[in-house]
Amino acid sequence: MDVSIAFNTLLLFLLFSAIFPLSSFSAANQPRYAKKPNTPSSHNHHLSSSAVFKVQGNVYPLGHYTVTLNIGYPPKLYDLDIDSGSDLTWVQCDAPCKGCTKPRNQLYKPNHNLVQCMDPLCSEVHLSTESTDYNCASPDDQCDYEVEYADHGSSLGVLVRDYIPFQFINGSVVRPRVAFGCGYDQKFSGSTSPPSTAGVLGLGNGRASILSQLHSLGLIRNVVGHCLSARGGGFLFFGDDFIPSSGIVWTSMLPGSSEKHYSSGPAELFFNGKTANVKGLELIFDSGSSYTYLNSQAYQAVVDLVTKDLKGKQLKRATEDPSLPICWKGSKSFNSLSDVKKYFKPLGLSFTRDKNLQMHLPPEAYLIITKHGNVCLGILDGTEVGLENLNIIGDISLQDKMVIYDNEKQQIGWVSSNCDTFPNVDRDLEGNFAHPYTTNLDIFGDRCPASYEETD
Ligand SMILES: *[C@@H]1O[C@H](CO)[C@@H](O)[C@H](O)[C@H]1NC(C)=O
Repeated sequence: MDVSIAFNTLLLFLLFSAIFPLSSFSAANQPRYAKKPNTPSSHNHHLSSSAVFKVQGNVYPLGHYTVTLNIGYPPKLYDLDIDSGSDLTWVQCDAPCKGCTKPRNQLYKPNHNLVQCMDPLCSEVHLSTESTDYNCASPDDQCDYEVEYADHGSSLGVLVRDYIPFQFINGSVVRPRVAFGCGYDQKFSGSTSPPSTAGVLGLGNGRASILSQLHSLGLIRNVVGHCLSARGGGFLFFGDDFIPSSGIVWTSMLPGSSEKHYSSGPAELFFNGKTANVKGLELIFDSGSSYTYLNSQAYQAVVDLVTKDLKGKQLKRATEDPSLPICWKGSKSFNSLSDVKKYFKPLGLSFTRDKNLQMHLPPEAYLIITKHGNVCLGILDGTEVGLENLNIIGDISLQDKMVIYDNEKQQIGWVSSNCDTFPNVDRDLEGNFAHPYTTNLDIFGDRCPASYEETD
């Protein structure tokens, strides 16, 4: 197919939340505005630091954004799909493997470092992925995992624990031992080509995520953010040092939401500044999804409004373009979104609980130009693909924004941002940092040139 749709939101929780809508979680036993007790790591705030990673990829044609992470000792580089819609990080495993797409020398080889099934982290993984049927027969059994994503792709494997070195912006390199999955049985959803990445970097806040593990070790504040450029690439950070001091729009996470994925709302849909009469949308912020998915009702409203608004303009439906369900062509083929922007109006999401709180979706945040020179709608019908009533804000709508998932304060924030400019610690951050700034990709680049080159 033309386009691979990375779509990594954890399926099992989606099913769960479809049965028990998030709004039915009682706020009574989880006061949203209660002050959090001081955890050990918040005492250590002055010690904790941040780490930043270069992001590669794009919405179209690749369909994913990735970071390259050093794992193991000696470290090897793995390109991982960044996914704020799931917790568990896994890499393709050098074991008899079904569905490994990388050459063998780029797979992760377990080295007597399997996590045992009595390890508390093992039950955390099972809590967040399979609800019940897990038992640990013998304490030194390995810890198996299985994750299934909303696009019906899946990974099955075993948990391992290994060194993942992080270069922090204070200059220190720390090598915590972190648990992650070694996946030896991957399935891909039928309609898309197998992902070219070595695995998934789960950015959720479940205990098993790398974010939570680094936080429990007192290394970072429980905050993660990304800035995905519409021109491809961008950056990802752990910790709170990169949060701009002003300009961010913050909205609270739905109670309990961050443990599985980050959601907020309810929101009302706007088209060209006027209400589209669609209200009560709960939104999952999901960097693992290339496109944005709305429930049928909201999707249909968008399609109707956009279609109606195109009447009399020079765009015709391009049903022969297989890239996405709805495409239009012009009299000449389009090269970039700037050729078509004038034909389309902005969409907007207005968060009904917080006054005047909006997410603006200019045409760039919901359209792509295909290699056939047509423009296509990057908002899809979620109900049709089995998401029922859920709504997913995917990469296309998160581009050129800094998006911050702040688990300390239980809020999600965003601000328009130029994601092409990698943050410069000396320029952008106050404080004295001991070393000139480097990215995490550079840590071992000079020492392991061979593995560095393998990543392309
Ligand atoms: C830098 O930050 C890391 C991670 O929080 C911490 O472990 C380390 O001690 C810090 N180094 C210095 C020199 O403060």
